[in-house]
Amino acid sequence: MTKTTVSAPANIAFVKYWGARDLDRALPLNASISMTLDRCVTQCTIETLAGDQDEIWLAEPHGGFSAPGPEFQRRVRQQLDRMRQWAASEQRFRVATRNNFPIAGGLASSASGFAALTLAAAGALGRGDTPIAELSSLARRSGSGSASRSVLGGFVEWPAGEGDRASPAMQIADADHWDLRDVIAVVEIGPKAVPSLEGHRRAPTSPYFARRLELLPERLAKVRRAIAERSLDLLGPVLEEEAVDLHLIAMSSRPPIFYWAPGTVAVLRTVRELRQEGLAAWATMDAGANVHVICDAAAEEDVAERLESMEAVGFVIQDSVGSGPQTDDEHLF
Ligand code: PMV
Repeated sequence: MTKTTVSAPANIAFVKYWGARDLDRALPLNASISMTLDRCVTQCTIETLAGDQDEIWLAEPHGGFSAPGPEFQRRVRQQLDRMRQWAASEQRFRVATRNNFPIAGGLASSASGFAALTLAAAGALGRGDTPIAELSSLARRSGSGSASRSVLGGFVEWPAGEGDRASPAMQIADADHWDLRDVIAVVEIGPKAVPSLEGHRRAPTSPYFARRLELLPERLAKVRRAIAERSLDLLGPVLEEEAVDLHLIAMSSRPPIFYWAPGTVAVLRTVRELRQEGLAAWATMDAGANVHVICDAAAEEDVAERLESMEAVGFVIQDSVGSGPQTDDEHLF
């Protein structure tokens, strides 16, 4: 029985994917841009299995394995079927995954999870040398569109594509280009109340949804330029506009979705205070309550110390720009 293990990182979106023109195929309505993280990763081990059933496990942080919930199992099986179909194979697998950061709190666990699963399955099917654009498209088909960005390192753009045509994500700058830091203030652990798939589905019901789409070309251009010029002054304000608009749309969708917790607001306030004190730190959130504070390396320790001292903050994760997924020699089982 051969085993393949891949670690794939989470990513934090500067311009968010929110709303799809075809949710089943994860065809987005807008282009998105993200930074791939370094330390927040999902590890996935896949072993080929005789028989006609897949086995799916979660590796527990302190050893041992547990069975994942039915929805997660369904999505993993679906992605394995898709990978088998792609590789014209009947092969069944034993799969285990482990996250080294809290799952589903808006920390992109589905992006890293499905990127790792897709890459490990490609390896287990003997197709590990597939071009990255094709692997990005396969990761997207998992239903977690942002997984298409997590197969790449550095700074990544996922274009919207056109009509029926999807576009793979592509790297716009590598991890060494700009030493940005992401100080994540964790104010809430545990699964979010409404999965992002449902958020995408409801997004067009918000009266502000169409307006954001109008504003996006200019924001995307600014973010591309900010990355090219390594300008946090240019990036920061767009980061916060995007984060607030995502949540504005969620809160005004029908029915509404409130991802924020009281701690979210407290952290946003602190980030403003930090800026008033002269530290260039800017906040963004994905579909969850936790806040990613983007800053440069020189500000990182001060930002982390301040956030850690807050009552509302459970703990802080200090992350940076990562170079993308890697194959591991050590397996989860
Ligand atoms: O990839 P999904 O379907 O989990 O959606 C991701 C949604 C956000 O994290 C809020 C934004 C993004 O682009 O990562």
